Amino acid sequence: MATHLLTGAAGFIAARVAEFLLAAGHTVIGVDNLNDACDVRPKQWRQAQLDFRPLHPADVPATWADIGKAERLLGWRPQTSFRDGAAALVEWYRENRAWAKDVATI
Ligand SMILES: NC(=O)c1ccc[n+]([C@@H]2O[C@H](COP(=O)([O-])OP(=O)(O)OC[C@H]3O[C@@H](n4cnc5c(N)ncnc54)[C@H](O)[C@@H]3O)[C@@H](O)[C@H]2O)c1
Repeated sequence: MATHLLTGAAGFIAARVAEFLLAAGHTVIGVDNLNDACDVRPKQWRQAQLDFRPLHPADVPATWADIGKAERLLGWRPQTSFRDGAAALVEWYRENRAWAKDVATI
């Protein structure tokens, strides 16, 4: 089984695709900005169908991370952009999946 990233997951098409993938045993990660370009009620109804589970211990519910202070006080500036860093992280996980899959958080 695979993990699928669905953009516009609250929308008409992607919500149905998510249902089919989940029924087939796949994992679905849905992304949607829930914009109000059209009637939001169908999106709200689809959200209400979601089964909200407790947060995973590794999930961060909110962050106010700000590197501004380090820059002001220390003159520190990141050498890697967020986008490049995130891409490198994903690539690292792909290359190290063999052992990373066994890492557990309690
Ligand atoms: N429904 C159809 O019959 C049909 C036919 C042909 C093509 N399409 C195309 O398929 C796509 C999806 O259609 P649909 O009917 O599911 O539309 P929809 O409006 O129901 O769903 C689109 C979803 O994308 C979300 N979204 C928009 N911009 C976003 C962003 N920047 N980040 C995150 N989420 C964002 C919206 O909130 C919405 O939930 C559209 O591009 C549409 O033009 C649809």
